[in-house]
Amino acid sequence: MPAASLVSSAAQAFDVRPFTDKVGAEIVGLDLSRPLDDADFARVHQAHLDHHVVVFREQRITPQQQIDFSRRFGVLQIHVLKQFLLANHPEILIVSNIVEDGQPIGLGDAGKFWHSDLSYKELPSLGSMLYAQELPSEGGDTLFADMHLAWDTLPAHLRKAIEGRSAVHSYTARYRDGHNAVNWRPTLTPEQLAQVVEVVHPVVRTHPETGRKALFVNENFTTHIVGLPEDESRQILNEINAHSVGNDHVYRHRWQDGDMVFWDNRSLMHLAAGCPPELRRRLHRTTIQGDAPF
Ligand code: SIN
Repeated sequence: MPAASLVSSAAQAFDVRPFTDKVGAEIVGLDLSRPLDDADFARVHQAHLDHHVVVFREQRITPQQQIDFSRRFGVLQIHVLKQFLLANHPEILIVSNIVEDGQPIGLGDAGKFWHSDLSYKELPSLGSMLYAQELPSEGGDTLFADMHLAWDTLPAHLRKAIEGRSAVHSYTARYRDGHNAVNWRPTLTPEQLAQVVEVVHPVVRTHPETGRKALFVNENFTTHIVGLPEDESRQILNEINAHSVGNDHVYRHRWQDGDMVFWDNRSLMHLAAGCPPELRRRLHRTTIQGDAPF
């Protein structure tokens, strides 16, 4: 009998604890190293839809277990920067500021600007799972902005300006912006460039599972709103971003050992707040493919 079939998928007792008055919830008492039965999976799925970002505490899982759990939500996306994929597990992108023998071991400036993962693809990401491996003693937080709330509270003049409009998203828009002594961003090969041709998505999208509307533009990948003059488009995008990341819309995740964080890219933008460069930070990300935004 294969070893995997000896692992029980019996129901687990766990709690979903919403964070007070902010987006997000923590899930306590669930062991992701064990396959989830259908009822437990349905509760996790619902918590993800309700709270947009869920934090699984005290996990001890292998890369393969992270991949297997992520796959229950959909097809996994392989990041274009193959240099930073985990050996033998290309479904995992290493997010890290660590440099070994002069070479970055992972994507060191991932999340430097507010974004929704892979919004530059025809099929942007449904959600991403980020699992802590090595955390700094100071800083390294990840911030999440609720784009449903941002849409619900968007001032009337901005609503009018973007009504029925689409925007262009490009992976290379800010590819090298703000890079420092360490060149985190290798020159893209023609093959890599061919994987990231720019795409057009609606500025306001409808969540395919909940039906809620959300703003879907971000400061990292959105270059301009189609059909508007460049300066007007820039001003509107800047105003939308400033509105979206106001404190009332943002949950700040302070990482703890064993955290695995699973967010909904259709509902949120996120930002890596950074940490002192001498402190080591390493996390493993899986990215689940979503639908074409509508
Ligand atoms: C990311 O944008 O996926 C990385 C976020 C982080 O490092 O906190």
